[in-house]
Amino acid sequence: MPDARRQPPLPTDGFETRAIHVGQPPDESTGAVVTPITLSTTFAHREVGEHQGFEYARSANPTRRAYEQCLASLEGAARGFAFASGMAAEDAVLRLLAPGQRVVIPDDAYGGTYRLVSQVLAPAGVAWSVADLTDPEAVARGWVDGTALVWIETPTNPALTVVDIAAITALAHLRGARVVVDNTFATPYLQRPLAHGADVVVHSATKYLGGHSDVVGGFAATNDPEIAARLAFLQNAVGAVPSPFDCYLVLRGIKTLAVRMERHCENASAIAAMLNGHRAVARVLYPGFADHPGHATARNQMRDFGGMVSFLAAGGEDAALAIVARTRLFTLAESLGGVESLIEHPARMTHASAADSPLAVDPALVRLSVGIETADDLVADLRQALDSVL
Ligand SMILES: Cc1ncc(COP(=O)(O)O)c(C=O)c1O
Repeated sequence: MPDARRQPPLPTDGFETRAIHVGQPPDESTGAVVTPITLSTTFAHREVGEHQGFEYARSANPTRRAYEQCLASLEGAARGFAFASGMAAEDAVLRLLAPGQRVVIPDDAYGGTYRLVSQVLAPAGVAWSVADLTDPEAVARGWVDGTALVWIETPTNPALTVVDIAAITALAHLRGARVVVDNTFATPYLQRPLAHGADVVVHSATKYLGGHSDVVGGFAATNDPEIAARLAFLQNAVGAVPSPFDCYLVLRGIKTLAVRMERHCENASAIAAMLNGHRAVARVLYPGFADHPGHATARNQMRDFGGMVSFLAAGGEDAALAIVARTRLFTLAESLGGVESLIEHPARMTHASAADSPLAVDPALVRLSVGIETADDLVADLRQALDSVL
């Protein structure tokens, strides 16, 4: 093995380089180029208290550490923590709140976030409210004393609204509140919330980070040492950690994140353009369009507009249900962010938990997770499904 100390430092400034190398040097004992999946739950001590940084796998695991270092680097974070799911990561972050403190969530938050806040945190004494975070002045006017956390999601699931991270963060920090950004839809390739002032970034790694619809995971990252210490404590104390194999899968997914996101964005833009001119579509929700209310903000804080497109069917819910049933390449399924294209009906599927709430989704809405197949094939598939409801 070459002596790593004699090598010049790795040029690791570029996103793609960091995605492939940070936390992942060749294995010291074997030279394995791919980070091994370390299954051992326990690690030998040379003598009591003397070990190599690993004791018990809930507390730390080498495969998980590689993944945590890599993704933290991509988010521009000092520390990152892997969890068993996006919801487990959200739960850990929301445990920063004490009973009596308040969290503000977006009025079109992911349904699972709404469920966690309204049905798990609220009964434990955490106050919560819903706000239109796309309007910072209205957020300032409606500010309630005791608000300790503002939860941003941008772009949102499924309405693809865009929130100005820097503007909301500035007003929250002035009032002593912290800001969390759910960066699942954008990924660190397109948007780095910590660089815009946010305190914590969270992910459902199940989506673009894993990228192949074969692993459930979550992540939280921060530059705040106090928050990092608490998250490290909660990760171990609560124990909602991913398996070494799951860590390996996400780490492998991250290596190709940049190239996948480029193609997701390109294909989504082609699909959005087709939808925009189709008679079966009442409105396309896509931040890449100049007339999208969040377009200027998205241009400012994102590298590109992402791989998600939603639209309202002109024929209402019945037409939306018919369209999602008639695509052939787009699979009718929940989740998003994989290489394959998916279509779904949020009101009855992913966001059913928000029905009859202030976050209820328009039943005419159809959500697309645009994959990386050939764009023309995707456009043709969607067009035939839309044509069939005219
Ligand atoms: C924006 C967003 N945040 C969080 C989650 C929850 O992540 P998971 O399903 O990995 O628990 C999801 C899942 O769909 C999501 O879309």
